[in-house]
Amino acid sequence: MNAVHASVDDLRQAARDYLPRLVFDFVDGGAEREITLRANTADFEPLRFAPRVLTDASQIDTGTTLLGEQIALPLLIAPMGLCGLVRPQGELALARAAQAAGIPLVLSTTASHALETVMEAAPGNLWFQLYLFRDREFTRSLLQRARGAGYRALVVTVDLARGGKREKDIHNGFTVPPRFSRRTAADLLRHPGWLWRMLPHRHQTLGNLVGWGGQDSNVVALSTFMNTQIDPSISWADIEWLRSEWDLPLLVKGILRPDDARQAVAAGADGVIVSNHGGRQLDGAPSTISVLGSVVDAVGGAGEVILDSGVRRGADILKALALGARACMIGKAALYGLAAGGEAGVARVLAILRQELDVAMALTGTHRADAVQRDTLQD
Ligand SMILES: Cc1cc2nc3c(=O)[nH]c(=O)nc-3n(C[C@H](O)[C@H](O)[C@H](O)COP(=O)(O)O)c2cc1C
Repeated sequence: MNAVHASVDDLRQAARDYLPRLVFDFVDGGAEREITLRANTADFEPLRFAPRVLTDASQIDTGTTLLGEQIALPLLIAPMGLCGLVRPQGELALARAAQAAGIPLVLSTTASHALETVMEAAPGNLWFQLYLFRDREFTRSLLQRARGAGYRALVVTVDLARGGKREKDIHNGFTVPPRFSRRTAADLLRHPGWLWRMLPHRHQTLGNLVGWGGQDSNVVALSTFMNTQIDPSISWADIEWLRSEWDLPLLVKGILRPDDARQAVAAGADGVIVSNHGGRQLDGAPSTISVLGSVVDAVGGAGEVILDSGVRRGADILKALALGARACMIGKAALYGLAAGGEAGVARVLAILRQELDVAMALTGTHRADAVQRDTLQD
């Protein structure tokens, strides 16, 4: 970690240097030909600002409200499984950095650390992400644990009726935890910093799932069991069921169409997260920025709209806000920071995005992140 890291792209390079290739590819890769992965970032580029000058840019407020809570930036850290593979402190570091920056972290069902431990490490504005399991009693118990621990919102991820086909993981022989084979050993040994930090923590787990189905904390057994439990029959009736089980804000993550957005709100969701899972699920799905406007129109103020997938720049955030998103989420960008420098690396990513957002707002004459106008962008 040093001052050379001027952008999220720089931190991506640092993550690539630090992580064994099989872990970097697990974080960075997408499904199949990675068409959607590339489109997520590329489709921000043709959007151009319509800069407004001489507006007195001495006071720029990047803060906003989301689900009635004040946050310092229109940004959240997205739910990501197994962050302990990147650095042992994983989600604990993400949560602490998010808390220090005044933004929420959404904790994954498949986090390395248990939801109670994360809340203890960084008590504050944490949300919980849920995968719906065939075992509804266990699903319900997760909701009760999250509610009891003080999680403030529920994010239900709905784009995982099947796991996406990530060919880099197949080529790399990626397993959890990474196993020494002739194929992987050279890769791991070429990254001694990662290996040194990981060795004392090689017994990784899925903290929220320990004990489920008679499993102990063994991560391989837990992930195998969990994969058999993700419920492919999930449908709108389940969103209504979850709505009846959860009395705080509920958002549906994985929406890419206006009619689905409308239906989510009709089923009782307080908002939708426009997401293609960072290009990790359906290759050929549209980039999220390209469908955002149509989803915003469909929701029509009846709920919050958050844009996820492809955000790497403060300017990307401003573009999404101009098209009607209330906030954005970052996934990979946060993990690049985590790899590059632990909690300080995540803090660096958030500081870079904050500074870039401030510059973009000032130079477009946008004073408040909670009131960005459509005409901040050219037609
Ligand atoms: C390593 C990794 C693990 C992920 N695990 C989950 C998960 O457990 N639950 C979930 O809803 N999304 C998961 N996602 C998707 C993110 O929540 C988010 O949608 C995506 O990373 C956003 O795209 P971006 O990485 O381009 O910012 C994961 C993403 C990555 C990179």
